[in-house]
Amino acid sequence: MQHFLSVKDADSVESLLAQAQYCKKNPFADQALGKGKRLGCLFLNPSMRTRLSTQIAAQQLGMEAIVFNVSAEGWSMEFEEGAIMNGTTVEHVKDAAPILGQYFDILAVRTFPGLQDRATDYAEKILNQFVKYAGIPVMSLESATRHPLQSLADLLTIQEEIISHPANFSTRKPRIVLSWAPHIKPLPQCVANSFAEWVTHWGQAEFIITHPPGMELDQTFTKGAQIMHDQQSALAGADFVYVKNWSGVQQYGKMAEGNTHSWMLTPEHLANTNQAKVMHCLPVRRNIELSDQVLDSTVSLVNKQAGNRVWAAQAVLKNLLQQHG
Ligand code: CP
Repeated sequence: MQHFLSVKDADSVESLLAQAQYCKKNPFADQALGKGKRLGCLFLNPSMRTRLSTQIAAQQLGMEAIVFNVSAEGWSMEFEEGAIMNGTTVEHVKDAAPILGQYFDILAVRTFPGLQDRATDYAEKILNQFVKYAGIPVMSLESATRHPLQSLADLLTIQEEIISHPANFSTRKPRIVLSWAPHIKPLPQCVANSFAEWVTHWGQAEFIITHPPGMELDQTFTKGAQIMHDQQSALAGADFVYVKNWSGVQQYGKMAEGNTHSWMLTPEHLANTNQAKVMHCLPVRRNIELSDQVLDSTVSLVNKQAGNRVWAAQAVLKNLLQQHG
């Protein structure tokens, strides 16, 4: 693994899942691997789970993790090639990234999309410039179009459920439904894109995406998924329901039109599922995306997902350390 930016950087999803499971059973087995190594965690946007789980994972591998909240504490950074920097930006990524490359052995970066210009966001301009100029392995902590560490933790959570209920899945694949949810503001497509990309690469599920007409995700990510606009039909027989809002891809960065309240997942939505477990990456807007009754019930896997973020990060860091040791 040279970098970790998407599912394409994993040798195989199955093998990375096995490594995450190994880390969970043996959290301190590879302390020697990271000894004397330093991880730089750069946050251009807010985080709780990603920041803390990545720091814990690094420490369990014997690494030192240093967090730099660029957006709150750093110089305002410029990413435009040839920019005349007479505005608010103070430091060009071309100047900052090589320095970070000297300070750290691995650089982890979180950056959200602007949701203004689709071409810029989908070119992953910010993340790719860190890859280009840092000269060390770069790990995505969520970027303009993807959140691969989240997806690895999500699949680990699903796999654990499958392993603990073998009778349910001995003769069939699990039915996983990614269900669009309402929100009060436009959100990135990253979590949904990545989840779709990882589930389809994994290839061990019947995978359905349901959303209102007009909220189609980019086909690069949804190839191999069944798309349905009727949420109730999509949810019928589901084993896992992943709830997530995303803003428009065609009407880029725009919210869905009309009253979408009925898309909020409630116990009634789960009536025709196969006693489905419910997932969300968090943070979640309660009683907007998902009802309290679902989140506070035993069907919710959200805490397990967040806990598994540690093992996903540890498996990826371990791969990067082994490759670049
Ligand atoms: N799911 C997730 O990435 O959480 P944070 O934004 O808190 O890191």
